[in-house]
Amino acid sequence: MKKIVLAYSGGLDTSCAVRWLKERGFEVVCFVADLGQGLGEGEDFQAIEGRALVAGASKVYIKDLQDEFVQDFVLPALKANAIYEGKYLLATALGRPLIAKYLVELAHKEKASAVAHGCTGKGNDQVRFEVTVGILDPKLEIIAPVREWEFKSREEEIEYAHMSNIPIDVSKKKPYSIDRNIWGISIEAGVLENLEQEAPEDAYLLTKSPTQISTYPKYLEVYFEKGVPKKIDGKTYKLKSLINHLNEVGGLYGVGRMDLVENRLVGIKSREIYEAPAATILYTAHKELESLVLDRELAHFKEIISLKYSELVYYGLWYSPLKEALDSFVNSTQKQVSGSIKLKLFKGSCIPVGRKSPYSLYKKELSTYGKGDKFDQKLAEGFIKIWGMPYKR
Ligand code: ARG
Repeated sequence: MKKIVLAYSGGLDTSCAVRWLKERGFEVVCFVADLGQGLGEGEDFQAIEGRALVAGASKVYIKDLQDEFVQDFVLPALKANAIYEGKYLLATALGRPLIAKYLVELAHKEKASAVAHGCTGKGNDQVRFEVTVGILDPKLEIIAPVREWEFKSREEEIEYAHMSNIPIDVSKKKPYSIDRNIWGISIEAGVLENLEQEAPEDAYLLTKSPTQISTYPKYLEVYFEKGVPKKIDGKTYKLKSLINHLNEVGGLYGVGRMDLVENRLVGIKSREIYEAPAATILYTAHKELESLVLDRELAHFKEIISLKYSELVYYGLWYSPLKEALDSFVNSTQKQVSGSIKLKLFKGSCIPVGRKSPYSLYKKELSTYGKGDKFDQKLAEGFIKIWGMPYKR
């Protein structure tokens, strides 16, 4: 019997996919990746495992990948200041290559000839999964049941799940499509497809409404070492707990909400809202620290790299030669990115208000308008003449 490893979430789509693949003659091994998705109410990994088995899986692997995710995927993206179309901090996009990597690993371990995922044919995630699998093992067959099967609506899937006795709780009909991990939440569909309408409060899961927050700001100090966030307010954290902590604090102050129409890789524009409190706080702080310690030319060039980096992540090209080369560049820029940034969280905003670093390139004696000025203003005259010379008519 042909064996297939399916990336399994426990939801309706992938549960139907288990049965659907089995009916097509596959032995189905399910892989559940724990990226800090915070399972829904009344849900746990045991329940998910049970559901996979009832649906027809022969085996279920559940793996906590949170540390690897933050260390090997989130952190490089943070160092690169990767942000897609100026707003999206890439939580979903960063998780896919990691899940795909384990799909391939498990396929080898289980001697499976194929892998599968539950993505639709309209999104970016199918691309990220399949391109990554193709890079890591081009011999593996890839099946995307949702692109192929006969069900035309959620209702038809529910009926199929019922007929197959798969325990799916459909009472809480989800009004949105949600993807969540420790780096952020992506929310789309439902009323969000109406572009003129503000996203309703119930679409947000992690952040308090900025209008309902105390009028007192919250100050935070983030300390970085070589581009890696290490401490909050003087207390050392491991990366995963640091992110969890900032999600909590940021969420309380309504920080990290985004609402955008983005360009998908497959050529569709889609409206998506995001919540990423920790990512927003760390991105803001990291960028501010770089402003202090990187010279102008490096800082400006790095912005170009950030843009390209975010596209590579979004386009599913994590394991590409260019991304690897950009990582080398980015890492070489981080040697002096150490120091502390003080931030003010206030009614949904996150603003840097203080900074210090042993590698600071700020020279008060040059910039001051007060006492102790060492900048020789007379030199400016000659500089300007030469600078503007080529443009004089
Ligand atoms: N648009 C985002 C991306 O392509 C998120 C995709 C998943 N979103 C969702 N709500 N299920 O990375």
